[in-house]
Amino acid sequence: RTVYVNGDYLPENEAKVSIFDRGFLMADGVYEVTSVLGGKLIDFGGHLARLERSLAELDMDKPEGFDDLLEIHRELVRLNGIEEGMIYLQVTRGAPGGRDFAFPDPEVTKPTLVLFTQNKPGLAANPVAKKGIKVISIEDIRWGRRDIKTVQLLYPSMGKMMAKKAGCDDAWMVQDGAVTEGTSNNAYIVKGNKIITRQLSHDILHGITRAAVLRFAQEAQMEVEERAFTIAEAQAADEAFITSASTFVMPVVEIDGAKVGTGAPGNVAARLREIYLDESL
Ligand code: PDD
Repeated sequence: RTVYVNGDYLPENEAKVSIFDRGFLMADGVYEVTSVLGGKLIDFGGHLARLERSLAELDMDKPEGFDDLLEIHRELVRLNGIEEGMIYLQVTRGAPGGRDFAFPDPEVTKPTLVLFTQNKPGLAANPVAKKGIKVISIEDIRWGRRDIKTVQLLYPSMGKMMAKKAGCDDAWMVQDGAVTEGTSNNAYIVKGNKIITRQLSHDILHGITRAAVLRFAQEAQMEVEERAFTIAEAQAADEAFITSASTFVMPVVEIDGAKVGTGAPGNVAARLREIYLDESL
């Protein structure tokens, strides 16, 4: 596999990042995941805009190559022959040559830019979408700026493991009694013709897939309500689902052991998945 590091396309075993990199030492970095379908980048503009915002919120300079990111993405897709899969991009504050809590001088220490691809044949036709996923609820103990897509993913990883241990697929995180989001996705419920998902704030990541799906829902005359909801409300809903760049729209059929609706994927989630994939291809 060919990867990209600070201006160079290299075989993955030749790519190097310093042990002093602040991404490694302090999780001082941000990332994006863009999916590829039919060899094409999905929602690239949205991911680029969010990356720019994440960098600005953390006072991190744009890495060299920022203006060529579309080209770099396309080149990696081409070099690795990706038809269906993902591109991972990470920017960190760089490697000042030591460890210090204070940010390094941006005139001296330049951001690190890394990209790699993941080949995922069958991503769009994922059979899991036909049966849905099961989630558990866990307390949301992450920091207060989840709208910034940082690489601090330890708690979401732990949440995923708690879900696996419970025989489930993912965890929905709960703060002050209401669902914030999934470990790596936005959370939704459906009541009648109404799609309910938490409003945007510092509490959740502003999903790029979320924005697209809500737009398609409105175009299809579905009602959208952006507000917080509880686990009890979700368990009693007609349907539930998640969205992300890696799952698109994925039905949720069980929450903390309680079946949602009939316990099978619902029509609204299925329809939104179909629309999203149609519009993306
Ligand atoms: N995760 N919420 C969280 C906490 C996320 O990590 C993600 C994305 C989303 C959905 O955002 P988007 O629709 O822009 O992918 C919501 C990516 C896919 C990941 O970490 O792999």
